[in-house]
Parts: sequence; C-alpha cells; structure tokens
Amino acid sequence: MNDVDLDHFRPQSDEIQQYPFDYYEAMRSERPVMKLAGEEVGRPGDEVYCVSRHEDVHSVLLDHETYSSRFGSTGSVPEPALQEQLEAISATGWAHVDTMLTEDPPVHTRYRKLVSKAFTPKMISSLEPRVRALCENLVNGWKGEQRVDFNRDFGVPLPVTTVAYILDVPDDHQSDFKRWADQSVAAIGRTISDDERLESQRTIVEQQRWFADQIELRRNDPSDDFLSNLLNARLTEEDEIEGDPLSMGEMLSIIRQIQVAGSETTTSLLADAMVRLSHRPEIWGKMKEDPTFIQAVVEEGLRLSSPNQGLFRIATRDAEIRGVAIPKGSAVWAMFGSANRDERVFPNPDEFDPDRKNLHDHLALGKGVHYCLGAALARLEARVGLEVLCQRIDSFSVVDEASLRYSPSFILRGIEGLKLDVEYC
Ligand code: HEM
Repeated sequence: MNDVDLDHFRPQSDEIQQYPFDYYEAMRSERPVMKLAGEEVGRPGDEVYCVSRHEDVHSVLLDHETYSSRFGSTGSVPEPALQEQLEAISATGWAHVDTMLTEDPPVHTRYRKLVSKAFTPKMISSLEPRVRALCENLVNGWKGEQRVDFNRDFGVPLPVTTVAYILDVPDDHQSDFKRWADQSVAAIGRTISDDERLESQRTIVEQQRWFADQIELRRNDPSDDFLSNLLNARLTEEDEIEGDPLSMGEMLSIIRQIQVAGSETTTSLLADAMVRLSHRPEIWGKMKEDPTFIQAVVEEGLRLSSPNQGLFRIATRDAEIRGVAIPKGSAVWAMFGSANRDERVFPNPDEFDPDRKNLHDHLALGKGVHYCLGAALARLEARVGLEVLCQRIDSFSVVDEASLRYSPSFILRGIEGLKLDVEYC
C-alpha cells in the first residue's frame, strides 16, 4: 500500500477517483468510521461519516430503522437561480417521486412489492435468449476487426438494449433511449455544468412524455409486458401491506430508476472484468473450457469492481459505530467498494480469485431491504456476455493500459473508453 494521509481524503479529486483503494485501506485500519465535511461528497452542511469496514457497512445496510435511505440526491446542490430554471422545466413533465432507492419502509415496501410483480425472476430469465442473441450481434458488429472499442461496441449497448427490451422500446427509439440513459446518470457523484444540468432535466421530461404515452396505450390494450404489468400491479393480502396502485408519476420515476441503476453499473462490471482477465489468460482458458466457472468470475468481478462504490444513509437517531458517535441527522457513507476489499473478510483482497470460498460475501449489490432489484439481471447480462466473448475470442489485450481512466465520480466507478486488441477463435 502507498502511504496516504487520511486528512487529505477528497473523494471528488480526480487523483483519488482513479485509485481510491489506498485511502480505503488506511481508513479500514486507522479510522474505520471517519468524519468528513459534507462538501467533500456534494452534501454541504451535512456531517458525513465514512464507514469502510465490511462488518460495519453490512450492519448499516441491515438497520434501515437507524440508517434511512432518504438521502435525496447524490449530485451537487444547484444555486437558487438554476434551481428555479430546473423547476420550470420539471413543471412541464411529472414531478420526480422518491421511490425505491431513496425511500424507507413502509413506503419503500409498497414500491418494492408492486415493482416486483412486474420485474419477476421469470421475466428476467426469459430474457436470456435475447441477451445472448444481442451479445452475438454485438460481436458480429466488430466485423473481425483486431482493435475493438469495447465499451462503445459491447459494454454500453448490452445493458442499455436489455433494459430497452424490458421497457419495450422499439428499435427506432434505441438511440433516444441511450441518450436518455446517459443524461440520467450525468450528475451522479460528479459535478456538471449548469447547461448540462438543464439539458439533463429537459431530457428527463422528453423521456417521461414518451413512456407516459406508452403506458396510456396499455391502459386499454394491456399485454404481458413489463409496462402493462407495472400499470396493473396490485397489492394483495399476501403482501401484508395495503396501498394504492402506482400513479403515473411513480411509474415514470421507477422507470428512470431502473434505467439509471441498470446501465452504467453493468458496463463498468464488464469493462473492469475484461481488464483483469487480460492479465489472467489461464482464467480465460478455464472459462472457455468450463463455462459454468463464469458465474464465479462474475461474482469476483462484482466484488473487485464494485461499480457502485458507496451510497448514503441518514441517521434517524443518535447512533454509534465502533465507538464513534453518529449524531441524529448526519449522513453515513456506506462504502461498498471498501467493504469489498476488507482484508478481514477477503484474504489478499486486491487479488482476482474466482476460486475464493466466500465469493458471495461481497456487498457490491447491497444488502437488506434495498438489495439490488436488478441483481439477477446484472448477473445474467455479465454471465451471458462473458460466455459469448469466450466463445468468440481466443485471447486479447488492453490497448495502452497505462492511460486507462475511470469516470469522474466517487459513486459510480467505471473505466472510460476501453480498447482491446483481440484474436478471434
Ligand atoms: C453490476 C450491476 C449493478 C450493480 C453493481 C448494482 C448495485 C446496486 C446496489 C449496491 C444497490 C443498493 C443500494 C442501496 O443499498 O442503497 C442497488 C439497488 C438497486 N438496483 Fe442495482 N446494481 C446493478 C445492476 C442493476 C440493474 C441491471 C438494475 C435494473 C435493471 C438495477 C436496479 C436497482 C434498483 C431499482 C435498486 C434499488 C432497490 C431498492 O432500493 O429497493 N441494478 N443496486
């Protein structure tokens, strides 16, 4: 580990975003619950407690009564004049509703139960043939070229198109859908210009209008698709909670959340896994020989990449973690990325070892009531993606690895612009 000074931990600095792990390690060992000024993580005025050890992150995630998910936005707070302009644009669409990710039980429970009636394991597993065909088409699109822009031509279109399948977005709207997805994640954990923020808000309204029309069409003519099932989802006695069906504003916010949560994260997982695998031809060989091993590779890839490096909670009462007082109202940063490299749980934590005994102990997909709704989908996309790549690629290397860069966000961590040189089978 390189020596670092924890007093200089600035999650928004480019240098730290490129490689935060020395800081995480120092935190786990020296200050496992470390106080940070809110400005450092885009929460001016808040006291933020960074929780970095696996055991503590795990406890925070399981205790939703003490640690609320009503943390609001992960972007920086706009100035009043900009806020006014943003509100004027929002007023032309549907007001944003905090749904699953940023709500607590019982409000969260109602959303989660209703959405789960449409986002079912059966619906996800039925996607497998389409996801496989998509992956094959994407590799065909490389046309046997030796140099491949992996993110552009595989890692990005795979999750975006898969979510577009779920939402029944027709082919001629795919490029709009991609633009909407990009705009939706533009401000997460990073600073964007006022113009970008306004553009992002306009795009949200454009997307809302398109999906509202699609939902209205299904009101009179439902089919067995996700949007119809979302529209017609009803709570029953078995759900042990009462509540209304989803309103249009709620459905539109849920659609956006699924789109945001499910695109960049999966891209990052795949890109990161490919860089690691480029150094481990023996693992690539084993994956080719025994495709069932790919599941373990995906799990270990999730642990090490942790595309979502951490999210916030707000203390609902005075609490204490490892002897550090967490006053009511302060924010806790549950650092999934650090927990997943905790040497107390994962020996040689920086090593990519798909044979680990406790592969599934990572927190890359969260834990507790907010456990990733799309976990099965993310695993399906990554597994099928790697299966197809293994069938088609004999060996590969990263182009100019020293210049690889991670995106400017302390929450969503992913490699930008990954290029590979490939040898086909
Ligand atoms: C590698 C890919 C993914 C990663 C690393 C990831 C990570 C996470 C994490 C850590 C959480 C928990 C957040 C918290 O506790 O505050 C979460 C929640 C969530 N994820 Fe994922 N996710 C991925 C893919 C997906 C996909 C593909 C979808 C949907 C299409 C999705 C939808 C959601 C939703 C809706 C939630 C909120 C659930 C709730 O609050 O009840 N995610 N995800």
